[in-house]
Amino acid sequence: MCGIIGILGKTQAVPRMMEALKRLEYRGYDSAGVATVADGRLDRRRAPGKLSALEAVLADSPLAGLSGIGHTRWATHGEPTEANAHPHMTDRIAIVHNGIIENFRPLKDELLATGVRFEGETDTEVVARLLTRYLNEGLAPRDAFRKTLGRLEGAFALCVLISGDDDLMFGAREGSPLVVGLGDGENYLGSDAMALAGLSNRLIYLEEGDWAELKRGGLQVYDAAGNPVTRPVTLSQVAATMVDKGNHRHFMQKEIFEQPTVVAQALGRYLDPNEGTVRLPDMPFELADIPKVTLVACGTSYYAAQVARYWIEKIARVPVEVDIASEFRYRDPVYQAGGLAIFISQSGETADTLAALRHAKAAGQRIAALVNVMGSTMAREADLVLPIHAGPEIGVASTKAFTCQLSVLAAFAIKLGVARGLVDRAREADYVSELEQTPKLMARVLHNDGKMAEIARQIADARDILFVGRGIQFPIAMEGALKLKEISYIHAEGYAAGELKHGPIALIDEKVPVIGLAPKDELIDKTVSNLQEIMARKGRVVLISDNAEHEDGLLARFPMPPAGDLVAPILYAIPVQLLAYYTAVEKGTDVDQPRNLAKSVTVE
Ligand code: AGP
Repeated sequence: MCGIIGILGKTQAVPRMMEALKRLEYRGYDSAGVATVADGRLDRRRAPGKLSALEAVLADSPLAGLSGIGHTRWATHGEPTEANAHPHMTDRIAIVHNGIIENFRPLKDELLATGVRFEGETDTEVVARLLTRYLNEGLAPRDAFRKTLGRLEGAFALCVLISGDDDLMFGAREGSPLVVGLGDGENYLGSDAMALAGLSNRLIYLEEGDWAELKRGGLQVYDAAGNPVTRPVTLSQVAATMVDKGNHRHFMQKEIFEQPTVVAQALGRYLDPNEGTVRLPDMPFELADIPKVTLVACGTSYYAAQVARYWIEKIARVPVEVDIASEFRYRDPVYQAGGLAIFISQSGETADTLAALRHAKAAGQRIAALVNVMGSTMAREADLVLPIHAGPEIGVASTKAFTCQLSVLAAFAIKLGVARGLVDRAREADYVSELEQTPKLMARVLHNDGKMAEIARQIADARDILFVGRGIQFPIAMEGALKLKEISYIHAEGYAAGELKHGPIALIDEKVPVIGLAPKDELIDKTVSNLQEIMARKGRVVLISDNAEHEDGLLARFPMPPAGDLVAPILYAIPVQLLAYYTAVEKGTDVDQPRNLAKSVTVE
């Protein structure tokens, strides 16, 4: 999604804004721009494409000024052109925006009727022209900004500079996050803690409807009604150093390989190996009273939900409903009174998932958010937060967040089983001991990554690739397909292995690789026979398994260590991540920022 940075600084703003925009690249974008106020005059530089294009423009035509705003744009209204790139500017103001102004069309018609002319097609330019109109009518900047906000409908984070004053910046948050950073004689605005990581770790998260007036020496936050409010200052855990690749080629590679470490951290927050117990954060309800669990998410987080359903139903015998967030609230779901709805989201900002959370909350469900970003909107609106402690995840394709989500969900399922009297102390200790093995087993699998790079080279020319798994490996097959298609652009689908013969097997021929996920569990024989049906039709099968007995006819086998039902889905995420990564590298696609994608989709 779009990224925002604003600096009221004591030194030249552009260099630090460009650093902040680089930290925001992970959100996905297709144009960028910066604007400053220097000697009271607004000026800007914009460019379609990556930040390097903007850097070239700035090298050719530098931009001075101690105060500035910057933006990386993920196009919603209008092509990624220079004219549509932010900042938008008039003679009075410069503005950057993340979100969608839903009533931009009537506002644009109203302005056109007064003779206002527009440069581009964006909804943001309508805000710029409306604010300018109120300033031209003589309103003071604060009143003009507030009046403009009162006319807008939709989701927006805004950051505004006013010509003639380089010690004044406005920000507003309605549906898209915006964070104030506090400096020493400076102040900042950013889309998230990552944007501000190099500038400040003292943050104020604006709440829904909040807007703020910033000066170098201080700021005032107002609520939607215009009342001055005080919001808490939190210390950010995100250090600038966490947001670099180290000696890895891509952020995704770094994040795949740091999984043993971060999963160990995540488990360490939820398991007590000495006591052999699981510990969850304090919650405002009794787990034993939960009659039903609803899991809602998007993308990779949705596949984590699918895995969790197997664990929760098998261990805790609580019925679980899983749904894709963008479908959930539109089907008018039937809630069970007293039910717990868990929303899974790495960013904690995904618009579809947030909308579903608010729908379930309005229906009186108990709400939990399983997130990686503690200051996120979902974390703030839930009754219970289950942090996944994965650390900043920069690669658009989610990897370490997924295995940390699974780790926490496994711990939750065990605790729910304990609460319902179905898991005694000895069984709980066994589960804890099994989960504790996960980081070590992950490291063993990662050690064999060269084998997966070799397999990637064998399949990188395919047009279609299937992933198949049974039982709890079925969601991992779907996740593997998503990983592969989103970064290599090869069409891939995940199927239940038993489902292939009901149609998809028609796709099989010698050009179609099939990735079979088959740990040695009670389903292995059935899965292997499904794979043999595929090989009988010349399908090129890659077997990912700890079972070495079935090698004949395989295109390749990726050996796995033995793992139980709790650990296997977490462990089998690694080879499919590696396969996706090395296939994308082989194809030369943009691994960390795949085309058309954004790290956090904050529009519906
Ligand atoms: C995963 O690799 C994708 N980037 C995408 O499917 C992502 O999982 C989805 O957009 C949900 O994001 P969230 O976890 O931040 O809500």
